[in-house]
Amino acid sequence: MTQGDATGGAAHSRAVVILAAGQGKRMHSARPKVLHPVLGEAMLSHVLRTAHTLKPDRIVVVTGVGRAEVEAFVAAQPVPAGSVVPVCAVQPEQRGTGHAVLCAQVAWQGTTEVIVLCGDVPLLRPETLLAVSAARGDAACALVAVDLADPTGYGRLVVGPDGRVERIVEQKDATAAERAIRATNAGLYAFDAAFLAGALPQLRADNAQGELYLTDVAALAAAAGRAPVPVWASEAAEVQGVNNRLDLAECSDHLRRRIVRQWLRAGVSFDAPDSAWVETTVVLEPDASIGADVELRGRTAIAAGARIGRGCVLTDTTVAAGAELLPYSVATGARIGPGAHVGPFAHLRPGTDLGADVKVGNFVETKKARFGPGAKAGHLSYLGDCDIGARSNIGAGTITCNYDGVNKFRTVLGEGVFIGSDTQLVAPVTLGDGAYVGAGTTVTQDVPPGALAVSRTGQLNVEGWVARQQAKRARSAATK
Ligand code: UD1
Ligand code: CA
Repeated sequence: MTQGDATGGAAHSRAVVILAAGQGKRMHSARPKVLHPVLGEAMLSHVLRTAHTLKPDRIVVVTGVGRAEVEAFVAAQPVPAGSVVPVCAVQPEQRGTGHAVLCAQVAWQGTTEVIVLCGDVPLLRPETLLAVSAARGDAACALVAVDLADPTGYGRLVVGPDGRVERIVEQKDATAAERAIRATNAGLYAFDAAFLAGALPQLRADNAQGELYLTDVAALAAAAGRAPVPVWASEAAEVQGVNNRLDLAECSDHLRRRIVRQWLRAGVSFDAPDSAWVETTVVLEPDASIGADVELRGRTAIAAGARIGRGCVLTDTTVAAGAELLPYSVATGARIGPGAHVGPFAHLRPGTDLGADVKVGNFVETKKARFGPGAKAGHLSYLGDCDIGARSNIGAGTITCNYDGVNKFRTVLGEGVFIGSDTQLVAPVTLGDGAYVGAGTTVTQDVPPGALAVSRTGQLNVEGWVARQQAKRARSAATK
């Protein structure tokens, strides 16, 4: 957002700096901390999304530990239309949060406001950041403050009689009296960029951790008569920093509840709101209904009147109006048409496309399978790399043999085809409209429209065989 200043002064421009160079020792993980997921999505992805909503002129991610992995992650994230492409700045050694901002200086220099976010504070809302930016006025800085019953581990805010922050003291440097302070630094700031540029070179590592603390900019601002303005967060969870797996789990659960509540208010019903997992990227329409223990992940979308039964797990799947998924069905990268019925216990894999009113029943696995309207596969089948025409009926135990060990081949069924139970369709193979396949057939050749295909060895009945066997066994037992 670049605005001309009405008074004719310097244009306002904003940089967002995301600190993500730290190791995260307490995670006990080989993975960089900011790439650990909260509600199925890396913390850094949540923070980048928040940064983009501010439409800043620049976004800088400071990387260090796990740098290659973090930079690759940043490069792979989608950039919303009209947003700036984030850049990365390297902090070669982790010498503290102040040092991290210093390492990114070339990337934020020239802007008028620098917003600093932590890659390990994933639940911060854009509204709160805008409030911080707006509250700064002519202070050198505004920051998010929170009143915590147990502020252990966080920096404490020493607040003066005018309500401004005089200085910030880290847990490890605090006296017993300072540790009793509940006013906590959330680690999120809006700085006057020029003041920040002047203050960073003055930071000293003469503290318990031997680091350059960004938090020491507060005392420098106060000394300059421009003490930081605290903006009090209404909800502690929003500014919770993640330092270990317990924090991570708590953040996930908090976000999960926040999202489920949003959808409940928007007219979606949940049988058991406490057990539903709905990621931030999911879209639900009013009057959709979600059962207990359901997981909706990634770019899943559920239309009005659709019903998702207990225990279903849907990833990147769209469910059209009035479709019903019976319990414990799993779908990934699938499209489920209006009025379709799926499950229980169906497995729809990527590229599954079910037309209107299709039925896919229990223990059916599909992959790259297009079903025309009204087609049915009721039970126990594997249907991969296939087109199944409208109103075709697939019997129990049907298998598309789509793979010869090297290549995959398609099976194409016309409309109204009937496949008897226990059929193998050896691809590539095409069955014309209205073709009929007898139970137990191995189809290896194309079947013309309206033809019957059947491949069976003839049946032999041996009269009296069972009685003769029993008699034989009785004789051999008697001679032992
Ligand atoms: C920091 C604040 C503390 C605040 C808390 C809120 C400082 C000195 N302290 O403490 O007042 O209450 O956040 O969560 O700022 N990082 C780097 N490079 C470094 C060090 C850290 O990029 O050299 C990054 C980390 O990856 C992390 C963020 O900065 O994303 C915060 O660092 P962390 O070590 O977690 O700081 P805290 O001890 O939590
Ligand atoms: Ca932290």
